[in-house]
Amino acid sequence: MDLDVSNNLLEGEIPQCFQGIPLLFFMLSNNNLSGLFPKFFRNNSDLVILDIARNTFSGLLPTWIGGMTAYQCECSHLQILSLSHNTFSGNIPPEITYLHWLQYLDLSGNNLSGVIPYNLSNLTSMTLRGYLDEDITIASQFKEVLLITTKGRQLGYGKGLSYFVGIDLSGNSLTGEIPRDITALDALVNLNLSSNHLSGTIPCKIGAMKSLESLDLSKNNLSGQIPSRLSSLTYLSYLNLSYNNLSGRIPSGNQLATLNTDNLALMYVGNSGLCGPPLPINCSSENGTIINGYQTSSWKEVKLLPFYFGFGLGHLVGLWMVFCGLLFKKTWRAAYFRYVDKLYDRIHVFAAIKWAHMTRKASLK
Ligand SMILES: *[C@@H]1O[C@H](CO)[C@@H](O)[C@H](O)[C@H]1NC(C)=O
Ligand SMILES: *[C@@H]1O[C@H](CO)[C@@H](O)[C@H](O)[C@H]1NC(C)=O
Ligand SMILES: *[C@@H]1O[C@H](CO)[C@@H](O)[C@H](O)[C@H]1NC(C)=O
Ligand SMILES: *[C@@H]1O[C@H](CO)[C@@H](O)[C@H](O)[C@H]1NC(C)=O
Repeated sequence: MDLDVSNNLLEGEIPQCFQGIPLLFFMLSNNNLSGLFPKFFRNNSDLVILDIARNTFSGLLPTWIGGMTAYQCECSHLQILSLSHNTFSGNIPPEITYLHWLQYLDLSGNNLSGVIPYNLSNLTSMTLRGYLDEDITIASQFKEVLLITTKGRQLGYGKGLSYFVGIDLSGNSLTGEIPRDITALDALVNLNLSSNHLSGTIPCKIGAMKSLESLDLSKNNLSGQIPSRLSSLTYLSYLNLSYNNLSGRIPSGNQLATLNTDNLALMYVGNSGLCGPPLPINCSSENGTIINGYQTSSWKEVKLLPFYFGFGLGHLVGLWMVFCGLLFKKTWRAAYFRYVDKLYDRIHVFAAIKWAHMTRKASLK
């Protein structure tokens, strides 16, 4: 059974009468419903979509959200979980990573705190391997529309939803680092961790998240350099790293130069330590790169240095080889001078004939 009563003026708690009814799609978004996280989902392993966004539900997220049982049981079939814009508090239960069918998780705009669960790589439907393995797609059945914010815009997804893999934890009070193993989720298209209190660095293996189209890490307290691997994300078309504590040179090249934002510099503003284009701040020599003890302030110089060295060396070696050959090998020397001699003869003859031609022409006129 499916239930879609989104966009109404329903208020109060969800009645208990749903207990025991096998629900596949349960969509209650954009109402005025309140109360704790509905208990009757506890034993409902058939549920594929749960969308209770934009209500006033509150309290903790239950630990049984992961299907109550161990990971191996594969009990829950939840693929879409949207709890955004409620007032849920406490931390994100690590058990959420038991939901290995989960492909879209939206917890944005709540009061969640604590760290982002580790073991995110257990969300296998968010990896290319797990995602492609999957035979059951909700696409054929899903006729409703789910609101998803990506690339800074809110879009309604219908059938296309089954191809959308995303995590949105923005607008909470999450602390700690971005879990390193989030980079294992290589089917993720949208990642939004903006407006939290995350610290530490951007995972350097971020280049492994090959499917990323939209990455928003703005308004946190991330520090360190922007990993250069970011520029190898070929599908990335939206990036926002503004208002953090990032420093160093902004990586250049490939994808980052083609990003389709209105103002290129906007995605880096509010980081006092960043320098280089597209920001109007020149990198000082301290931000330059040290190679073999020589400090150079420009990448061009660093890259060209070995080239010039090789070029010079090549010339030198080549000249010496010819010279030594002439010096030590009698037959070569003979051949060389015979060749030069012949060349001289030819030029001489050619010039003489040309001269004769020209003078004759002149005298005929
Ligand atoms: C995550 O997966 C590993 C195996 O890859 C397993 O040992 C671990 O128990 C799982 N953890 C969770 C929280 O599912
Ligand atoms: C990320 O979330 C914030 C707040 O929820 C939103 O304003 C922003 O547009 C989102 N970013 C993207 C790239 O969709
Ligand atoms: C910014 O990062 C630097 C380290 O890169 C750290 O020393 C400093 O305290 C951070 N500033 C803030 C406001 O967190
Ligand atoms: C940055 O460097 C360029 C050339 O090296 C110079 O023309 C420009 O004035 C500098 N800008 C600033 C803000 O220092």
